[in-house]
Amino acid sequence: MSYLTRTLTSALLFILLLAGCSTSEPATEASAEEENQQPILIQGPMPIEAENFAERLENVEEEESGTFVFYKGTVDDYPVIVMKTGKGMENTAAATALAIEKFNPAAIINQGTSGGHDPDLNVFDIVLGERTVNLGSLKTGNREDGEGITPTEWIPMDLMASEGSAGEDPDAENIRYFEGDKDLLEAAQAVKETHKEGKVVEGTIGSADVWNNEVDRIQWFHENFGSSVEEMEGAAGAQIAKAYDTPYLGIRILSNNKTNGGEYNPETAASNQDYVYEVVKEYIKTK
Ligand code: 5AD
Repeated sequence: MSYLTRTLTSALLFILLLAGCSTSEPATEASAEEENQQPILIQGPMPIEAENFAERLENVEEEESGTFVFYKGTVDDYPVIVMKTGKGMENTAAATALAIEKFNPAAIINQGTSGGHDPDLNVFDIVLGERTVNLGSLKTGNREDGEGITPTEWIPMDLMASEGSAGEDPDAENIRYFEGDKDLLEAAQAVKETHKEGKVVEGTIGSADVWNNEVDRIQWFHENFGSSVEEMEGAAGAQIAKAYDTPYLGIRILSNNKTNGGEYNPETAASNQDYVYEVVKEYIKTK
């Protein structure tokens, strides 16, 4: 190879290298941007628990899958998806898995109404789910034909303790708590003052496909599981979010409290969404 050919070849290689660098740069930037733009998901079971928030989204597009409705929009130019999950544990678990697969969310807030287990909490107070627990995961005592039923002797059952039989495994006789995400909790704590109709406290959200109206049973859960409120969704979503390692927090307003005579008030649903809207704006600031 002559000196001239060598010089030309090196120059060509240099140009190609430069071209390669300049084309790969924007691609790297775009994927970093996409990563930062993972949506925040807000779950609400009933129309009154989702539509108020959905109305506050900008650039909304609606999408349906089965009975689930997704309102895809933005808050402060950040992608936020409000989803109407329907009531109960099964709807919530399925909707959570579907949404994680579909949208790869940065975080999930499960919010809505609840019934008080703590007599110090009033209708319009809000509980931030430092922990969430399934109040339907129980094992009964051993009783023979005709020996009756004794619910206060039932013990907790942890379905995630092992892959073996939960009924036989002594390690499964524990309460499984799902921890609320720390960053979501911090954002929620930072805007507590925006909720004027009641107080905002940290607590334990208990869930099951059951509406308890027996005050002694409510007190039993409060004492044995530490539940602040009960509802029908939080622990189901928490379990699935944990399976996918997705940050998750339950935020529940009391719409009723049988332990202190708090009458059911459906207006609490909108008030909770107003507060959760502030939480989302605060959380977006940290993104
Ligand atoms: N017990 C159970 N669920 C309740 N909810 C509100 N109050 C209670 C309560 N005391 C919520 C549930 C469900 C719907 C029936 O209202 O989460 O979505």
